[in-house]
Amino acid sequence: MVQLKLVALTLLVLWSWWNFEGAVGDPQTLLLKFECSVVSVHDSANFFQNLNASLANLKSQLVSNQSKHFVTAQSTTGTDPVYAMFQCRNYLSNTDCVTCFAVAAATVRNCSTMNTARAIYDGCILRYTSI
Ligand SMILES: *[C@@H]1O[C@H](CO)[C@@H](O)[C@H](O)[C@H]1NC(C)=O
Ligand SMILES: *[C@@H]1O[C@H](CO)[C@@H](O)[C@H](O)[C@H]1NC(C)=O
Ligand SMILES: *[C@@H]1O[C@H](CO)[C@@H](O)[C@H](O)[C@H]1NC(C)=O
Repeated sequence: MVQLKLVALTLLVLWSWWNFEGAVGDPQTLLLKFECSVVSVHDSANFFQNLNASLANLKSQLVSNQSKHFVTAQSTTGTDPVYAMFQCRNYLSNTDCVTCFAVAAATVRNCSTMNTARAIYDGCILRYTSI
């Protein structure tokens, strides 16, 4: 029952994601959902290296190609790899997309050493996993 509700909620979120039009010049940084796992990584120094490298890579892809609204990156050195994905709404300007990314990146860092995190804003989604 709880799972069905989650699936329904996810579908609703995805539906509104693609169908809701936002204002121009608005990075749409209203936080809709923020989750961290409860399992910590093995080696936090190694994890933070990989997390930092992945987030930097996502950002540089957004900045270097202004038509990009979906990017993935991974950094897999050592015991605690990080796989990250970012998407902003197609109608966001590059500036707004990058702003939404910066806000979401600060939020997932609040998960500290937890091995998965996701932050969903009305304008963008950022998630990473270390498993
Ligand atoms: C990762 O980035 C954070 C925030 O910029 C910084 O405080 C931290 O020292 C960095 N860690 C590593 C291992 O690079
Ligand atoms: C920029 O990104 C768009 C959308 O992913 C892609 O179609 C285009 O080929 C990319 N341009 C360059 C120069 O890589
Ligand atoms: C993340 O942590 C910062 C600093 O503690 C705090 O100001 C901010 O509200 C937190 N954001 C979320 C979404 O938890």
